[in-house]
Amino acid sequence: MAGNRTFTMIKPDAVRNGHIGAILAKINEGGFRIAAMKYTKLSAEKAGEFYAVHKERPFYGELVEFMSSGPIVAAILEKDNAVADFRKLIGATNPAEAAPGTIRALYATSIGENAVHGADSDENAAIEGNFHFAGTEMF
Ligand code: RTP
Ligand code: MG
Repeated sequence: MAGNRTFTMIKPDAVRNGHIGAILAKINEGGFRIAAMKYTKLSAEKAGEFYAVHKERPFYGELVEFMSSGPIVAAILEKDNAVADFRKLIGATNPAEAAPGTIRALYATSIGENAVHGADSDENAAIEGNFHFAGTEMF
């Protein structure tokens, strides 16, 4: 039976710091199947739309600027319990609090520039996957 799906982005800091390959290896070792993937760059407008849920937060402007500052890798990942298991694999938002061995503990630099995004619910995973990919790009 196919597992369920989550959505991730390797953020501009991790791309700049040369961590795409290492992060994809962690994703593979974590047992996730890649259902969709692209190397792309968000405009400020698109980044703002993607993180619209955080519009009222004090860090929103910085977040939009950062997420549109360079290329990202966007992907849909498949595994049983994908959303929760992926959040576990990436670790806490603040890398200083992320468990040892998690992607953020290994590759994030700060709470704002924290290497990866992981969807926080099945519903948001579907919305975010559809934001980045056409149905014909999902396998
Ligand atoms: P994400 O959505 O990127 O997977 O991160 P998350 O669920 O762990 O954290 P969330 O609360 O959704 O925050 C989204 C992103 O906003 C930036 N942030 N900066 N400066 C700050 O205090 C702060 N807090 C959050 C991070 O890039 C965070 O991942
Ligand atoms: Mg979040």
